[in-house]
Amino acid sequence: MRKKIVAGNWKMNKVFAEAETLITEIADALDEVELINTEVVLCPPSIYLEMTTDVAEEANFMVGAQNVYPEDSGAFTGEISPLMLKALKVDYCIVGHSERRKYFGESNEFLLRKVDALLKHGIRPIFCCGELLPEREAGQHFDVVKKQVEESLFHLGAEAFARIVIAYEPVWAIGTGVTASKEQAQEMHAYIRQLVAEKYNAKTAENTTILYGGSCNGKNAMELFAQPDVDGGLIGGACLKAEEFMQIVTSL
Ligand code: PGA
Repeated sequence: MRKKIVAGNWKMNKVFAEAETLITEIADALDEVELINTEVVLCPPSIYLEMTTDVAEEANFMVGAQNVYPEDSGAFTGEISPLMLKALKVDYCIVGHSERRKYFGESNEFLLRKVDALLKHGIRPIFCCGELLPEREAGQHFDVVKKQVEESLFHLGAEAFARIVIAYEPVWAIGTGVTASKEQAQEMHAYIRQLVAEKYNAKTAENTTILYGGSCNGKNAMELFAQPDVDGGLIGGACLKAEEFMQIVTSL
């Protein structure tokens, strides 16, 4: 049975004391619920990773980074290597978020290198894909997502691919308050699963966790997560308050 995941992408939010409070509140709230086959992943800014992994040792959540540079070490001022993440016991890392594609010009080829660098050190990539609004309006959304997935992931063998989590995040839904409908999400998730089945095999496709991201919140999570191919969510704005994040976690 494939794993269900709710991951909170904090993006560039929270100063130290606020981060500490949020992590503690979520850890305490998770102690009160029983999650079956479900993982909660907190992805704070890198400066809080150590604090988060410390708490995670005694808590019921995993930790993800928001970014990585695809070299083990070297003259890359300001960057963080997969070795450093591994040493902090970070479990996951977001790769290919639309904000990084847009503001930092990250290409599919560069993202492939990040995927490889993370897998080399046992960190699981949460690989984001998704189309822009004009691409959806032009009916190109399937082709766009196919290209992103093919060019950054499909060089992997089946065993390595089994370590990947995919997050479908239509860019027009991110931070806009406009969520994909449950039908739109299900249709794209089923399509991605089909691509995986064609490239690898039915079993790999069946076992791949595919998250939805884009204005997912406490109100709409339940109906999105009820779709057969939606295995949880990558949550931005709504993960910054423990209560709403927990509402989403318990919607799974
Ligand atoms: P949002 O962001 O939930 O604020 O739309 C999701 C994401 O960017 O991962």
